[in-house]
Amino acid sequence: ALYAVPQPTLAGLRVVISAGGTREALDPVRFLGNRSSGKQGLALAQVAAERGAQVTLVAANVSLPAPPGVQVVPVESALDLAEAMTARADDADVLVMAAAVADFRPKQYVDAKIKKTHAPGHEDDAPVIELTRNPDILAALVQRRRERGTARPVIVGFAAETGDDEGDVLHHARAKLARKGCDLLIANEVGRDVTFGKDESTVHVLVAGSTAEPVTIGPAPKASIAAGVWDAVQQLLAP
Ligand code: CTP
Ligand code: CA
Repeated sequence: ALYAVPQPTLAGLRVVISAGGTREALDPVRFLGNRSSGKQGLALAQVAAERGAQVTLVAANVSLPAPPGVQVVPVESALDLAEAMTARADDADVLVMAAAVADFRPKQYVDAKIKKTHAPGHEDDAPVIELTRNPDILAALVQRRRERGTARPVIVGFAAETGDDEGDVLHHARAKLARKGCDLLIANEVGRDVTFGKDESTVHVLVAGSTAEPVTIGPAPKASIAAGVWDAVQQLLAP
């Protein structure tokens, strides 16, 4: 006879995952965007659904269909995404910020399509686009939980890091975990040809308050990365 191995479970838990990349509109036809495909967020949604969670995917310009059984909330900009996550935060057991959120948006949205020549005699003038900071959604979600004085939702952040003169990927990831105040930070190594839109990646799982070395997952398909991330979340949820 075949015996089923008991699977780790998220049965009955409400999880809200942001995925994709925000678009910050300049005018009705143009935006500032990024290369996030949403694949990692979709993989996280799929694994969570398979493990029995009630999954909401806050999808910012995701190019692929959502897995079956997942409720999709489409958003475009960082401000839209902030609103969608905040509205669902208090009732969630787990929040995952897998979306690539634009740090800045154009200071002004122009209602009509921007023309290349604004004024006669100034054909060579290039417009300067002024930017303004977007809210830090992850930090705000942590702050909201702190104000409510609750342990839930568990909050997971992602960090796309390249490493630079100041330090390697893990150095930046540790600093980011401390700065954001979330429970888990999944650090992704990125470069121009790595991770974005690809099917495989390598991540390091950093746990807040833990002195243990971060667990590394990969190089592996995004489905395996997602499974490893949920394993880490389940360890935090366990009594
Ligand atoms: N994030 C967010 N709101 C923002 C920017 C980022 O919630 N305005 C979230 C991302 O979804 C991710 C985490 O914060 O889970 C880290 O994103 P990252 O861009 O790596 O961090 P930043 O704080 O924006 O730092 P920097 O881009 O300067 O490295
Ligand atoms: Ca950023």
